Amino acid sequence: PSLGIVIVAAGSGTRLGHPEPKAFVALAGRSLLERSLATVLSLAEPASVVIVAPTSHGQQARDIAQRIGGAVRDHIQVVDGGATRQASVARGIAALPTECDAVLVHDAARALQPVAVFERVLARVREAGAGVIPVMPVIDTIARRDAEGRVVGQVDRSELAAVQTPQGFPAAAYRAALESATAEHTDDAGVFAAAGGEIVAVDGDAHGFKITTPWDLRRAELLLESERP
Ligand code: CTP
Ligand code: MG
Repeated sequence: PSLGIVIVAAGSGTRLGHPEPKAFVALAGRSLLERSLATVLSLAEPASVVIVAPTSHGQQARDIAQRIGGAVRDHIQVVDGGATRQASVARGIAALPTECDAVLVHDAARALQPVAVFERVLARVREAGAGVIPVMPVIDTIARRDAEGRVVGQVDRSELAAVQTPQGFPAAAYRAALESATAEHTDDAGVFAAAGGEIVAVDGDAHGFKITTPWDLRRAELLLESERP
């Protein structure tokens, strides 16, 4: 396939505080990884998918892939994660076939991001030949404070956006950006921009929030309950 997708699922989930790694925690009966993978596999375009899992959970990730991706046209691999998100992404990208023209990188922890956002990001990558991030407007007023807790100003929130995943890139340019990265970045667009790549934003979705704390997991459960037909 000419589309490559990396799902990063190798974090431990310290802030969620469950014994198992976060991507393997159940949300209304299905793990975060299972939900993210099912969304990816529902894309109209066939994809080469790489799941980046903790070394301890490689077999479990393969079982999930087999269960929900068994008979499909997509090609699914599982590779071991690294110490940081960026290292995990790099391992996932390295496992993609070289014929991919576009790559999407997605946090397993954004388990409710709708497939429409994946489609929007991918379409824009191919149209613009740039990096693409899905974003949400910032709703809160944002204050700048100093080390002593004094508020030293407000930030104009109309200039700001909260960044989600999947983030999409032209494959060759993104590989080159990862190889030349010298610093740790909190997201993929950060890596791409540091190498001089152009990034454009498209609309994200409220369901694309990252499940980070127990409160986020509860919110996701309640959303699923309230939206069940
Ligand atoms: N991730 C990864 N490899 C790492 C760290 C994070 O693949 N070394 C993945 C996580 O599995 C998650 C995504 O990157 O899907 C976003 O990271 P985050 O929400 O911070 O997850 P964790 O690092 O697992 O959580 P915490 O920071 O609370 O430990
Ligand atoms: Mg983390």
